[in-house]
Amino acid sequence: MAKIIVVTSGKGGVGKTTTSAAIGTGLALRGHKTVIVDFDVGLRNLDLIMGCERRVVYDFVNVVNEEANLQQALIKDKRLENLYVLAASQTRDKDALTQDGVEKVLTELAKDFDFVICDSPAGIEKGASLAMYFADEAIVVTNPEVSSVRDSDRMLGLLSSKSRRAANNEEPIKEHLLLTRYNPERVSKGEMLGVEDVEEILAIRLLGVIPESTAVLKASNSGVPVILDDQSDAGQAYSDAVDRLLGKEMPHRFLDVKKKGWMERLFGGRE
Ligand SMILES: Nc1ncnc2c1ncn2[C@@H]1O[C@H](COP(=O)(O)OP(=O)(O)OP(=O)(O)O)[C@@H](O)[C@H]1O
Ligand SMILES: [Mg+2]
Repeated sequence: MAKIIVVTSGKGGVGKTTTSAAIGTGLALRGHKTVIVDFDVGLRNLDLIMGCERRVVYDFVNVVNEEANLQQALIKDKRLENLYVLAASQTRDKDALTQDGVEKVLTELAKDFDFVICDSPAGIEKGASLAMYFADEAIVVTNPEVSSVRDSDRMLGLLSSKSRRAANNEEPIKEHLLLTRYNPERVSKGEMLGVEDVEEILAIRLLGVIPESTAVLKASNSGVPVILDDQSDAGQAYSDAVDRLLGKEMPHRFLDVKKKGWMERLFGGRE
């Protein structure tokens, strides 16, 4: 039976899709059969970041509407044996996903996979509620700024009240905080919240801190999840987060301001 993990945030543009792609790929790299499901109906970003956009024939909504079966809609990753993507539909109809439809698809996926990663759309409306409803665990993606933390806090409230686990009085969804786009220099200048500040407000366990990194944009432009760029700071930070998700103790890295080399000190580094 798969573990269903929702990647959610409340606020938009904080790095959910980047995270879904990285964490899903990291789990597959470690031998777990993983599918990443794009719940962002109408937008369809995940397939671009995963580099499989040209191979989308059928999508999540087609499966819900029984226009295709799962085998037809699942896209197998070309790089990794254990990795699959279920793309979102480009339909404008935001109501294309229903709770019964989503439950049917997730139940079927759960039989065959070790992990189902649900990439949630932004906001707290229907798409986001459907993405989290059936989750066993949640990765709450947050940027170190007040508006993002506030929206994550709202999302934590929803996770503990409006999920299947809550409705059935079961053990609550296990929540993880992933702080992304972290810029230690701006934190030290007081322009952004620090890790401790965010941890204190949200009070959930810290899965990882992903630094602000040019490697992320480079990776998504080339359709390669950033975790596969193992030379990059963001790739390494995601890799540590996957290990923690699987229960390993890993020290947190990339939290401090990088010491400048003598060239940068002399001539001034570019921001
Ligand atoms: N660690 C990072 N460093 C630099 N840029 C990042 C980082 N994480 C994400 N980004 C950039 O932030 C933007 C939004 O990322 P992404 O699409 O993953 O967010 P999202 O939460 O899925 O957005 P939406 O709410 O629209 O679905 C992208 O341009 C991405 O490249
Ligand atoms: Mg997204």
